[in-house]
Amino acid sequence: MSSSCSGLSRFLVALAIALVSASSSCPQAWGPPGVQYGQPGRSVTLCCPGVTAGTLVSWFRDGETRLLQGPDSGLGHELVLARADNADEGTYICRTLDGALGGMVNLKLGYPPSRPVVSCQAADYENFSCTWSPSQVSGLPTRYLTSYRKKTVPGADGQRMSPSTGPWPCPQEPPGASRCVVHGAEFWSQYRINVTEVNPLGASTRLLDVSLQSILRPDPPQGLQVESVPGYPRRLRASWMYPASWPRQPHFLLKFRLQYRPVQHPAWSMVEPAGLEEVITDAVAGLPHAVRVSARDFLDAGTWSAWSLEAWGTPSTGSLPKETPAGGQPHMHLEEELQADSPASPRPSLLPDLQPLVHRDPLEQVAVLASLGIFSFLGLAAGALALGLWSPKPVETQEDFS
Ligand SMILES: *[C@@H]1O[C@H](CO)[C@@H](O)[C@H](O)[C@H]1NC(C)=O
Ligand SMILES: *[C@@H]1O[C@H](CO)[C@@H](O)[C@H](O)[C@H]1NC(C)=O
Repeated sequence: MSSSCSGLSRFLVALAIALVSASSSCPQAWGPPGVQYGQPGRSVTLCCPGVTAGTLVSWFRDGETRLLQGPDSGLGHELVLARADNADEGTYICRTLDGALGGMVNLKLGYPPSRPVVSCQAADYENFSCTWSPSQVSGLPTRYLTSYRKKTVPGADGQRMSPSTGPWPCPQEPPGASRCVVHGAEFWSQYRINVTEVNPLGASTRLLDVSLQSILRPDPPQGLQVESVPGYPRRLRASWMYPASWPRQPHFLLKFRLQYRPVQHPAWSMVEPAGLEEVITDAVAGLPHAVRVSARDFLDAGTWSAWSLEAWGTPSTGSLPKETPAGGQPHMHLEEELQADSPASPRPSLLPDLQPLVHRDPLEQVAVLASLGIFSFLGLAAGALALGLWSPKPVETQEDFS
């Protein structure tokens, strides 16, 4: 009887030890050595480092003599705190019965990872980057694993879908930044970005589907310059360059929009220039103007860039008749000027300025055309008289800069 009893108890002890060792030894949390982690309000299990699993130990708070948990707890080398709170953070000491072995554990409380907030952006048509931020502060050391797959795309035969490929790592650039970059992306492909927040209490993944052509947002144009046009008190010439981040390729052009206003007026006027230059023809004479430009993929992929830095310019104040001395010389001078463009000041006042037609809205254009019609007899006659002295062409049309 007694032998069978002792046999059973020996079996149970062996089983208990086996179970403890199976679940045993301190889990290797990453982060600073000697620190273990738990969550406020939850039960936390601390593990005595430096002893083999199942070794009976006593637990103390550092600097206190009060026994927290004795060797008879049945928990072996572990200490269980039923409901951890902030007061439980700090250093714990564990010691074997003979005091020969033991260790020190630092308990830190925090929260498991939450799914990070991820967004992706592209300033050119080959590379895009994704940035993220925690959706909740965990208070614990945290790292992010970043990867991407190319999603299913129509197969070569147009019918079958080829399987998604990857995952490939999305390298974090610079290391440790909350940003990773996908280089050499295909403009029309769909990508699935995986940003996984990891901390000692777990991992949480956010997946985001992106395509380059929908997130494309060029950087603003650079080098914006505004110049007056001598002799034209209502004109300003603006020019700019592609953003440096946008390598120019025949298949990937940018289009632009330009805004301008006298600096003391709040409302912008806007035009969509065709190239890298625009002549504003309805500036307010004598006032400084602010000008800014933004860019977008020529085929409307993605969105408009931010506005460039503003550049300022004031239309030229000098008018040609004042600049030229009275006498025979002005004829030559005006002739030359007319080759280039129509000067604003010597134009007969009855005739509306045709130049701004280019960028006026249609209603306004109709109004201008109607008034042109009314003036066509009286105005042109008077204009021809006034102009007859020096010009066969009463009004220069906008063949340039349109
Ligand atoms: C994409 O990134 C690579 C490496 O940084 C760079 O060489 C390449 O010019 C970029 N592509 C475009 C279109 O900007
Ligand atoms: C996302 O990345 C994590 C970490 O690399 C990985 O464990 C997980 O399986 C990935 N999830 C998906 C859906 O790809």
